[in-house]
Amino acid sequence: MTTEFISLSDPLVDKDRAALLRAGELLRQGGLVVFPTETVYGLGADATRGEAAEKIYAAKGRPSDNPLIIHIASPEEAERYTETTPLYYRLAEAFMPGPLTVVLKAKASVPLAVRAGLPTVAVRCPAHPAARELIRAAGVPIAAPSANLSGSPSPTNARHVRDDMEGRVDMILDGGDSDIGLESTIVKIEEDGSLTLLRPGAITPDDLAAIGAKVTIADAVLGALKEGETVLSPGMKYKHYAPHTPFYLLDGAPEAAAAYLNGIRGRLAVLCYTGDADVFATLRNAHPIPVGEREDLFWLAKRLFSLLRDCDCGQYDAIYAPLPPPRGLGLALYNRMIRAAAHHIITL
Ligand code: TXA
Ligand code: MG
Repeated sequence: MTTEFISLSDPLVDKDRAALLRAGELLRQGGLVVFPTETVYGLGADATRGEAAEKIYAAKGRPSDNPLIIHIASPEEAERYTETTPLYYRLAEAFMPGPLTVVLKAKASVPLAVRAGLPTVAVRCPAHPAARELIRAAGVPIAAPSANLSGSPSPTNARHVRDDMEGRVDMILDGGDSDIGLESTIVKIEEDGSLTLLRPGAITPDDLAAIGAKVTIADAVLGALKEGETVLSPGMKYKHYAPHTPFYLLDGAPEAAAAYLNGIRGRLAVLCYTGDADVFATLRNAHPIPVGEREDLFWLAKRLFSLLRDCDCGQYDAIYAPLPPPRGLGLALYNRMIRAAAHHIITL
């Protein structure tokens, strides 16, 4: 398949709107279109057609039991596909459009291929202007997972998408670097009106609690599943975001980390907080890569997936990074990084 590339301007101008109309038409015809969102790039298909959604699984190499998120242009559109509740509308008022995905009971109108046979479905109303314009142009909701090959980090720019998806999709819309860089927060609305946090993101547990919701963090967010434990979100059981180069997390003070790395052979990429870069600068075989300040994790969130792709180019024998604190935005980083590192945490 030939993939068409289209570069969008920011803000969108008339020629971009024309391109988005064409992309919408492609989606209606059952095609695959990669589009930017504020979190990561999405690989979209018409969510009302099971056979279009099935193409997504094939293009990504994604297991068919891992359901897709339906992207809608306004929160009310969820009515057509899900059983909404008052809490859904409280969440919508506080966080939509934005980086929040809500899992609700599905209506029969949602193809089984989209929800991987589950009785529930995930909905998200993205904030990115191009994503919103595309959903409107398509006239149908867009089913979209992150636009990476299954198992590699989510794409946060069009180069990543091209590396993974060229020849597998009809069109790639380039909207520059993703603002947030980590996938949306996913919550499930439970029968008793509480929320289960299935995947942490830029909207933190504190943000959710601030609207009066009772939030339980699913066990899989902070660690591996133990035997016999049920998987609440099918995606959690798959290995994720894993670079081919061995990746380790360092839990301890930067000085202790530097002393530890001093004893390791090979060429090392060392992600470090900017204020700690000097501590690692004296190591002979390590390349310190500053990732922003410890107190401000937004920079690391925005760049993490990109850094993992860049460090995985064969130039390094191993990649090291500080273990982020599992609080606030750090919880989302912790969740992604322990998976990328296959739980290899070095306690110093
Ligand atoms: O930020 C995002 O959410 C991006 C952009 C493109 O919107 N999308 C994204 O999709 O990250 P994906 O497919 O890579 O991750 C969606 C996660 C998967 O782990 C999946 O298992 C879970 O959402 N999920 C989808 N439907 C679900 C459901 N009904 N119940 C529980 N988990 C669900
Ligand atoms: Mg994904």
